[in-house]
Amino acid sequence: MFFDYARPPSGLGRFGEYGGRFVPESLVPACDEVEREFRAAWGDPSFRSRLERVLSVYAGRPTPVTPAWRLSAELGITLLLKLEDLLHTGSHKINSALGQALLAQRMGKRRLIAETGAGQHGVATATAAAWLGFAATVFMGERDIERQELNVFRMRMLGAEVVPVSTGSRTLKDAISEALRHWVSSVDDSYYCIGSVMGPHPYPWMVREFQRVIGDEARTQCAAELRTGTPDFVVACIGGGSNAAGTFAGFLDTPAQLVGVEAAGGAAVNAGTTGVLHGFRTKVLQDSHGQISEAHSIAAGLDYPGIGSEHAYLADLGRARYVTVDDHEVVKALRKLGGSEGIFCALEFAHAVAWVLRAVEQGEIPPGATVLLTLSGRGDKDMPTLMESTPVTPPQRQQVIVERSWGFVYAVSLMGTTGERLELAGSGRELATSLRRRTDLPVLAGFGVSSPHHAAKAARYADGVVVGSALMLKVLDGAGPEQLGASVASLRAALDTADG
Ligand SMILES: Cc1ncc(COP(=O)(O)O)c(C=O)c1O
Repeated sequence: MFFDYARPPSGLGRFGEYGGRFVPESLVPACDEVEREFRAAWGDPSFRSRLERVLSVYAGRPTPVTPAWRLSAELGITLLLKLEDLLHTGSHKINSALGQALLAQRMGKRRLIAETGAGQHGVATATAAAWLGFAATVFMGERDIERQELNVFRMRMLGAEVVPVSTGSRTLKDAISEALRHWVSSVDDSYYCIGSVMGPHPYPWMVREFQRVIGDEARTQCAAELRTGTPDFVVACIGGGSNAAGTFAGFLDTPAQLVGVEAAGGAAVNAGTTGVLHGFRTKVLQDSHGQISEAHSIAAGLDYPGIGSEHAYLADLGRARYVTVDDHEVVKALRKLGGSEGIFCALEFAHAVAWVLRAVEQGEIPPGATVLLTLSGRGDKDMPTLMESTPVTPPQRQQVIVERSWGFVYAVSLMGTTGERLELAGSGRELATSLRRRTDLPVLAGFGVSSPHHAAKAARYADGVVVGSALMLKVLDGAGPEQLGASVASLRAALDTADG
């Protein structure tokens, strides 16, 4: 069963039991106005051709579909990447921000309000506002401000006001609530430029229409690239779900399997139940009293406890499948893509790569399959997060760490789990040696130590080792206290026999 995409959703923007408009009385006329104006604009060839031109000469459309050569060969599949990261401002968010900004101009508004998580939609909105000579106010959770510092600076440089939100989890959910509250009080001159396929009708439908350019282009490009015409799998990451909705729109009436990848800690489809959030009905993470639960993801743009209403419906229909990956797989996938293709992607998109890696390994994606991934954004914004979660601690930060430590300093030599490693990471030696130069405290090496051989090697540059999952794996294999004690003793003995 497919949607008829030539038509808007039924009633007040219903996708099955999802969607709709659950807003305070004071916002009803504003939502009505946006809907009326969008319908008129979308049916107006001059608006459509202006948007098309702006997307082309300003944003950089069409974006290419490129084969990921080396990763494809390694995985035994054909992997195609739709490069939305090449767009002006670095992600797909500009497609909808420019569309909505032109709509706001047509409506006679002079100011854009937006929320942002990863900062990409905030940057896109600030850019569209600057380009049209509008003011822009962007709401952003304090936690996201900390981890997406670069984008906050970019927004301010573009002339936008960034308003920190200190309520709740201080992330995207709270920023949207605050932006909606602010819109109520400034609706006369302001247009609320929502960043994903969420919110009250007409936003989920309208944002999907502005993003469907991704799927429409990709469909034509895949037809030229693939012998089979359409890919077997079409995969995208999901925060609110706009890059996925735009991509899926191009493939809904094909046999392609549609896969949306959620963060494990923000898995609204997999762990949520039906509820109302931010003015629309959807699947949402909540407790038995309807209190919204906090989402968590290393990717600020996926840290959302709900999902676009259309996705909730596609999940119920079984037309699209929604899967999850955890932060750990994501960082590994990001490095893998960088190392194989020379593309440093956003943490959000790395979720899609992580699922493909796992699905190939587990045979869910069979050898020879064709897979299209929408590469939703580039990774520059994530550099500080990655520097914290990978062992690239710069000397200045090492100094702060040793000054604030007591007991011992734990030098984490590589991302990963202990039990997985055959060899220790070379970077461990460098880090531990540098830390030892700065402190008299014992420096212990970890992550990668799983055998006496490793312990002996680590003892050449560290005062001890921390062993985690290698011992956990033994427990899972049925080891009791005695065997564990023996393991620890053999590691201890290896430390003492180290030759250096
Ligand atoms: C690069 C990137 N990809 C994906 C997302 C998730 O948003 P959506 O699900 O609406 O595409 C974000 C959100 O900020 C993002 O910055």
